This record gives sequence, C-alpha cells and structure tokens, in this order.
Amino acid sequence: MEKTVDKKRLQPVRVDNLIPGMSLGTDVFAANGTFLLAKGTVINESSINLLESNYVFSVYIDEKPHVHSEREKEMLTRSERIRLSPEFAEFRRNFEATVESIEEQLNDIVFKNVETLDTEELVKKPLDLLTGYSTADIFDMLHNLRRYDDTTYVHSVNVSLISGIIARWCGLDEEDVQTAILAGVLHDIGKMKIPDSIIKKPGKLTKEEFKIVKNHTVEGYRILQRCKNADDNMKYAALMHHERCDGMGYPMGLKASQINTFAKIVAIADVYDAMTSARCYRGPICPFTVIDIMIQEGLAKYDTLFIMNFLQHMGETYLNNNVRLSDGETGEIVFIDGNLPSKPIIKMDDGTILPLRESPLKIEAIL
Ligand SMILES: [Fe+2]
Ligand SMILES: [Fe+2]
Repeated sequence: MEKTVDKKRLQPVRVDNLIPGMSLGTDVFAANGTFLLAKGTVINESSINLLESNYVFSVYIDEKPHVHSEREKEMLTRSERIRLSPEFAEFRRNFEATVESIEEQLNDIVFKNVETLDTEELVKKPLDLLTGYSTADIFDMLHNLRRYDDTTYVHSVNVSLISGIIARWCGLDEEDVQTAILAGVLHDIGKMKIPDSIIKKPGKLTKEEFKIVKNHTVEGYRILQRCKNADDNMKYAALMHHERCDGMGYPMGLKASQINTFAKIVAIADVYDAMTSARCYRGPICPFTVIDIMIQEGLAKYDTLFIMNFLQHMGETYLNNNVRLSDGETGEIVFIDGNLPSKPIIKMDDGTILPLRESPLKIEAIL
C-alpha cells in the first residue's frame, strides 16, 4: 500500500468488504513489493481475487464514487450489477441486523441459561427477510454476500432462510414454514459450546476433535431441552440434522422413517449453505457443482420429496446469471430444465447457444 495517503479523501476498506465498482485510491503492492494494481483501478471480481491471493487485507478506496459510463455498466456481470444496486445495500443492512439479533438471542439462550424461548422474536427477522424479497433475489443476495465472515450466526441465518424457502417450495403451511425457519435458526446452537480453536481450525481435525464437533447435535438438544417451551421439532432438528436417510449420518445413524421432518429440511439447507460458503481450508463451491453432488447422492441421503423440490427450484433461481464454464468460456443461463437443473442452456458470449446436457462441459463459477 502507498506510504503517504491523503486521509481526507481516502478510506481503508477490508478486501473482503470490497464491492465491484469501488475505485482504488492508491497503487497497491504485495508484501514482497510486487506491483498489483494501479491507483484509479475500478474494483471487479478478478481484482478482488488478485488482492486475496496476495494476502492484501485492506486497500485505500477513493471516497468519490466512481460513476459508471453506459459502456462500463454493460460490461458488468449480473453479480456486479447486484452488488452495486441500492437493493443489495438494503438487503445487506437487513441481513446484518438479523445476524446481530440472532447472535444476541442465541448467546442469551446458551450462556445466560434462558429458560423460555422467545420464538416470536427468533423467527421475526428471518421471516421479514423471506417476506420482503423474492426467492431468486434471496439466493442472488446470499450468493453475493459470500465474502463476509462466515460465523455460526451467519450460517444459522442462511440455513433458516433456506429451510423456510424449502418448506414453501414443498407446499407446507405457514405455521410449518415458521417452524422450519426456527429449526434453521437453532440447528447449530450446540456449536456455541465448542471452543473456537476447534471450530476455526484450518487443518484436519484429530479424532478426538471430530468427536467433539459431532457432539454439537446432542449438546444442542440438551440446551433446548432446558427451555420449557421449545417444541419437539426444534429439539429434534438440532439433534438430527446430520442424520441421513440411508442411515449413514450421526449421532445415532437413524434411518429415513426415524428422522424428524424438520431435521430433514434443515439437513438439505445446511449442506447447501456449508458447501457454498468459503471455509478456511477452501473457497466457496459453485452452487451448480453443489447441485451436481446432491443429485449424485441425493436420493439416498435426503428425503425424496424435499430434495427433488429443492434441486428443481434451486436451478431455476439462477436463471439469467452469467457463468464461467470448465473450458474458461463465459455465457448466460437462458433456460433451465427442472429435471436436469445442473445442465441448463447457456447463451455464450459469442452468441452461440450451448445446451449443457449435450456437452461434457460444466458450470465452474457464477460470475
Ligand atoms: Fe450441524
Ligand atoms: Fe449447520
């Protein structure tokens, strides 16, 4: 970073908080002195990647907002346009307020030994988010919020939103939708008792540490058991969301018919969110790769009705997104077949139409 900086006009911004369209206020160098980006560069996805891969943690941004010419606007990907939109800024504010409120409430339950759950308050903010935006918008926005610190609280809010959406997609009534949201909010409450040194450990967990992590299910059940008004669905969602219909899950290795319905919904939301989030040992996995993985293992591991509905609707939410294919070429998703959600039809940047079902290529990233 440049040594002399006019602090009046420039402000330091963490790289994980950069938004495409911001303009660099200084030249940026890597720690070894290699020149990376010039002053005045307009931030886009690839400049963020360059900064991250060179371990640059913050840069100076020119406070004067960059005015996009019509040509520049045309060049932006759909994702970049979303991140620059006032709707995204508003969603981010609402989302952050929701995470903060959930964090406070979960901490009260776990560490202040609250005996009565305020279920209305727990469900209120996630439900407001679900009601205020279309499903496609929520997935778009969540996808574009991925750079933010992924705490257990962020994950809990994501899982509550996705669980509520799955419940709606499957035609459950509004009371069950709210139960799904609550089950999502509370599913990992047992993780709050696990030390950060294990939760955030970048390397492989030891056998003993893995046992402690798996026990968050039982721990969550115990915490909710202490609350007089926690209904069975919430307790079982915490206890059983890592169970799998083929009996290969934990902590008890239950079979499909023994697993609570809301635990089955949360299981799908949980896996989808965990895979599409960045982890300290890997970047986020592209949603289409996640859909592919879930199709391969889906019918055996997850409830058939829930997973089929999820996969069909999920693909559709990414219609009109710009994507990069496995050969490096880019295009836009123009049609999605509900039966083959990971292989949509792509309009390539050169105007040709490519049905992925007839091609060995895969979607590698949403841009
Ligand atoms: Fe979990
Ligand atoms: Fe989870």
